[in-house]
Amino acid sequence: MIEINRNKPYFVGNWKMNKSFSDLENFITNVPSADCHQWIAPQMIHLHSFREMTKNQGPLKVGSQNHCHEASGAFTGETSIEQLKDLGIDFTIVGHSERRQLFSESNEMVNKKVKLSLSHQLPVILCLGETLEERESEITFNVIEKQLKVALQEVSGTNFERLMIAYEPVWAIGTGKTATPEQAQEVHAFIRSSLNELYGESAQSTPILYGGSVKPSNVKDLMAKTDIDGALIGGASLEFDSYNDLCKNGL
Ligand code: PGA
Repeated sequence: MIEINRNKPYFVGNWKMNKSFSDLENFITNVPSADCHQWIAPQMIHLHSFREMTKNQGPLKVGSQNHCHEASGAFTGETSIEQLKDLGIDFTIVGHSERRQLFSESNEMVNKKVKLSLSHQLPVILCLGETLEERESEITFNVIEKQLKVALQEVSGTNFERLMIAYEPVWAIGTGKTATPEQAQEVHAFIRSSLNELYGESAQSTPILYGGSVKPSNVKDLMAKTDIDGALIGGASLEFDSYNDLCKNGL
């Protein structure tokens, strides 16, 4: 069982709908660092193979980018949490802004997904983030608070121990525009104090990752901030060298 805490940084690669089967092996050329948590979420269809290929990669963890909001049944094209658990995956990601925007996932649906992961003792990374329009209208904190509170409805204190949060401003994802370390820290601190209100002191050990154009060149300054415990990385996690440099620079 993976224990979630803030002792070492998390660098989570989200490969989205990228990479072919033959690309997978090229990634496994080095043993991961013991100084950070190195987690990768490949395409759903590659999960089993990637998990087998990385079995001897020590601490490297493999997880899914999404799962169905219902436990089983007539949901064509979806994958259930039980099926993912059967594969032996280590974590899931839910509520990514691409899921919210392109596949119309509501906060209520994200809440169902969070509860399913946690009730199956699977660490879950809950993604939150405002659009550019929302930031410019100065409603970032309202948006984040609503996303957080609805997603965590009926999540109890014990289950909460396997929760991680990723703050990903939508305007920074895949755009090359990163939030400044100060902008990110401000929202991370807000998320931590909201978690504190909901769960008390145990919120101090919830990792909060930043995502949105994180690169080997900007990770150090982001990681220097008190409430930034790691990164959720899209583009820069696709090539091993860039992912590895990012992990090293972020330590
Ligand atoms: P990016 O993606 O690093 O390519 O901006 C981040 C994400 O969507 O998780």
